[in-house]
Amino acid sequence: RVAGPCVLVLFGVTGDLAKRKLLPAIYDLGNRGLLPPGFSLVGFARRDWANQDFAQLTHDAVKEHARTPFREEVWKQLAEGIHFVPGEFSDDGAFDALAMALKEIDQTRGTGGNYAFYLSVPPKFFPTVVQQLKRTGLADAPEGSWRRVVIEKPFGHDLQSAHELNEITNEAFPESSIFRIDHYLGKETVQNIMALRFANNLYEPIWNRSYVDHVQITMAEDIGLAGRAGYYDGIGAARDVIQNHLLQLLALVAMEDPTSFEANALRREKEKVLKAVRLPADLSLNTARGKYAAGWQGGEKVVGYLDEEGIPADSVTETYAAIKLEIANRRWAGVPFYLRTGKRLGRRVTEVAVVFQKAPHLPFSKDDTEILGHNALVIRVQPDEGITVRFGSKVPGTAMEVRDVSMDFAYGESFMESSPEAYERLLLDVMIGDPPLFPHQREVELSWKILDPIEEFWATQGQPEDYPAGTWGPPSADEMMARDGRVWRRL
Ligand code: BG6
Repeated sequence: RVAGPCVLVLFGVTGDLAKRKLLPAIYDLGNRGLLPPGFSLVGFARRDWANQDFAQLTHDAVKEHARTPFREEVWKQLAEGIHFVPGEFSDDGAFDALAMALKEIDQTRGTGGNYAFYLSVPPKFFPTVVQQLKRTGLADAPEGSWRRVVIEKPFGHDLQSAHELNEITNEAFPESSIFRIDHYLGKETVQNIMALRFANNLYEPIWNRSYVDHVQITMAEDIGLAGRAGYYDGIGAARDVIQNHLLQLLALVAMEDPTSFEANALRREKEKVLKAVRLPADLSLNTARGKYAAGWQGGEKVVGYLDEEGIPADSVTETYAAIKLEIANRRWAGVPFYLRTGKRLGRRVTEVAVVFQKAPHLPFSKDDTEILGHNALVIRVQPDEGITVRFGSKVPGTAMEVRDVSMDFAYGESFMESSPEAYERLLLDVMIGDPPLFPHQREVELSWKILDPIEEFWATQGQPEDYPAGTWGPPSADEMMARDGRVWRRL
């Protein structure tokens, strides 16, 4: 899979995402020989910079965050194609200069008018940037070339704003040219959910309500706000990651098999299952919300959410959210899907656990609980990437005693290849024009439809419940599971 010559125009080059993820990912693609000849990178920002300044920023970001080793010849090749255009988003002159610069790059580097515009900027700037791209004609691809726009979440903060945002983008770019990034879909382990389910015959017969008791999808983080108070407050855990990453995981785990991995076929199946998601009738019993209080993490004392810099003392934003969902279709009717996420939890771990029903009959004479195997298939998304199957096994000895054991697959042991960073894969797909791993607007809107009623309910509930940093969330999250006779997996 190789991309043709093109230019990547990055808006928001001084942001955290650019430094930590995007610029290093571009270098890593170069290092793996996956950047097209003539590839050029244009930065646009409100800085009085020359090309060298942006090159320096890129160099530092690469040195600090790239996955692959630093090689002078790879860097040199990338640096040759680095340009910078200074300006405000509202400044027509700056965008005219951008258009001129792109024309020149086409001539000197043979990029043929193929441009990807990456909007790594707060959503309030989207309309202005998109309108500028339209006004300058940069959004319109001349015959034989392409123009694409890449947008980062948050795709709005509710259904209506997501819809409005999309209308703005659609005014300049056709749907087929819009690439919405949900970086979880770029993760190897997330794509592997599809391989696990559809490239094997082993799991499909038991992947349904007849065998599955429930599914737990967890995205736990040990970090706190990491300097993102401005973005996070007022958004909270559910809008930040459940609306996108966790519901995408749910869709991949629960969808029917797509007829192919072509974008429309895959998106159609994800949409169908998102459409079938139902909220429990009583949200007060089936959702939980928390915010971290001061506590200990990694041997260090950390402050509570309300004491973080930039957070108003009366903030009601949640840093932990748990919700129970059901899927109203033949495969999943009656099987709860529990989703939870939080910041400042015990450790960083994302996993999908498919928990199977108990054995229907035990041909042993002892008390059930001692003999029972707890069957689960756990997709370890990160950091210890792999898959675990848990089942009961006889403990060696003269008595019939059963203990749960694990069968493990670990990426690091089975493959020599190192996993590319999610953004590498996604940036390459943008340049190639391959959309399956980018959610369609319909998926975005369906996900908001699921979340909006929960957010509306929470908005009437005042402060989220406290949990000490470094623990596993508020008591109400455990109570919610206990009411169903279940427990969260211990991680
Ligand atoms: C982002 C969220 O989408 O995902 C962040 O906005 C979160 O709040 C991040 O920290 C986690 O990504 P990853 O890849 O480290 O799990």
